[in-house]
Amino acid sequence: MTKLNLLDKIIVEIEYAIDTIHDKAVSEQSNKFIKNKNDLTLEDKSKSERLMRVNHMGEVCAQGLYRGQAYLSKDEKNKIQLYKMCQEEREHLKICRTRLDELKGRGSLLNGVWYASSFLLGAVAGISGEKYGAGFIEETEKQVSKHLDDSMEMLPKNDFRSRDILKYIKDDEEKHEKTAKQMGSKELPDNYKKVMADLSNIMKDISYYL
Ligand SMILES: [Fe+2]
Ligand SMILES: [Fe+2]
Repeated sequence: MTKLNLLDKIIVEIEYAIDTIHDKAVSEQSNKFIKNKNDLTLEDKSKSERLMRVNHMGEVCAQGLYRGQAYLSKDEKNKIQLYKMCQEEREHLKICRTRLDELKGRGSLLNGVWYASSFLLGAVAGISGEKYGAGFIEETEKQVSKHLDDSMEMLPKNDFRSRDILKYIKDDEEKHEKTAKQMGSKELPDNYKKVMADLSNIMKDISYYL
């Protein structure tokens, strides 16, 4: 296999980032989620669209976080595990995108910024050593699961389809949290957890509208 030099690796990452931000692929899994019996009202549709845009943005960030962490992780086994989880997150990205399209919605206008900041955050986790790196994944997935619970709660009552999708994604995120534990995660300091939560709240608030 050809070994990539630094410039090649940077180009691969830039291509991956562009591909992620513009990924319009329809998820083949979308057929398995329940369909709404009744059409949503305009108001409900708009609320679902905003919430699904936030969830789609979260999956864009997951791509950035995992790619950034894998990029700088020194441990080969961890790197493989990170790319594997990134692949699973990719499916979430497609599912959210598909649902956004169904709702005639759009992704966050700032997805490029969110991806870049997540990549940097992931890269910091990548150089923090294996145990804190795994701790970072564990904390991320924990916060994502909590966010998904809130999001399911906030969805319009009649939007069973979006709720079914988020439930499926949440099950996967919980598996990722367990995987991080198996990787020997070390709990992050409280102030680091708080910074992560504050940052994600800012991103969520902005993406709800933009
Ligand atoms: Fe995800
Ligand atoms: Fe995940």
